[in-house]
Amino acid sequence: MQLTDAIHSRISTRGFLNKPVPEATVRQILDLARHAPSGSNMQPWQVHAVSGKRLEEVTQKSLIFAEQNPIGSRKKEFQTPAENITQPYKGRRYAVGMGLYDALGIDRKDRVRRNQQLMQNFYFFGAPVGLFFCIHRSLMPGQLGDLGIFMGNVMLAAREFDLHTCAQGFWQDVQPVLHEVLDIPEDNFIFNGMALGYIDPKHPANSLVSGREDVDVFCQFDGFEQ
Ligand SMILES: Cc1cc2nc3c(=O)[nH]c(=O)nc-3n(C[C@H](O)[C@H](O)[C@H](O)COP(=O)(O)O)c2cc1C
Repeated sequence: MQLTDAIHSRISTRGFLNKPVPEATVRQILDLARHAPSGSNMQPWQVHAVSGKRLEEVTQKSLIFAEQNPIGSRKKEFQTPAENITQPYKGRRYAVGMGLYDALGIDRKDRVRRNQQLMQNFYFFGAPVGLFFCIHRSLMPGQLGDLGIFMGNVMLAAREFDLHTCAQGFWQDVQPVLHEVLDIPEDNFIFNGMALGYIDPKHPANSLVSGREDVDVFCQFDGFEQ
């Protein structure tokens, strides 16, 4: 697959087919992604790739945890407080959220269905594989950017195998469960989860088109002669 096609065809996929992804394929994706650059080549990424019964266990134990600790009630270590989000970011965030509800036919005021959609994160939107991206706490926040670059590589490499992904910051809210179930050392911070699988092209959530600003909106060119 051409890089251009991989970039354009990647979407945050929120509806997957019930079709397994072999461990060998996940390995191939990670084998490509590991060529990501990182500060001083420290390669700070630690990944947990989970499938099958273990993934079900993550989901079930996380649901129980969330009953006692509602999503959003725990203070996240690296989250921009809502009151700090200014325009144009606030507007973009609102637009993509409402776009998703529109795609799913959820009334904006329907808190129950909105919450049901949020809960889909626990099920990795039906994907057969969940990836968790961790980093040693001693490298934070400096190397979080490296981890982001690595995750971007994973998302694009997945397209090479006709697979789709959805990054999930959501999982930061259930860190204690992940530490326990996946035996992740306490000094590793779980930065993001990611659903990985085959897209369900008929799922309405996947019809969402998230817009992007033009280059001139975010880049000021200086000093070029042509
Ligand atoms: C670091 C990161 C965390 C994200 N966390 C979530 C999440 O928890 N749940 C979710 O449904 N989407 C999540 N997303 C998806 C974003 O909403 C999505 O990337 C954005 O709206 C742009 O849409 P696109 O990926 O389809 O182009 C996340 C994306 C990134 C990059």
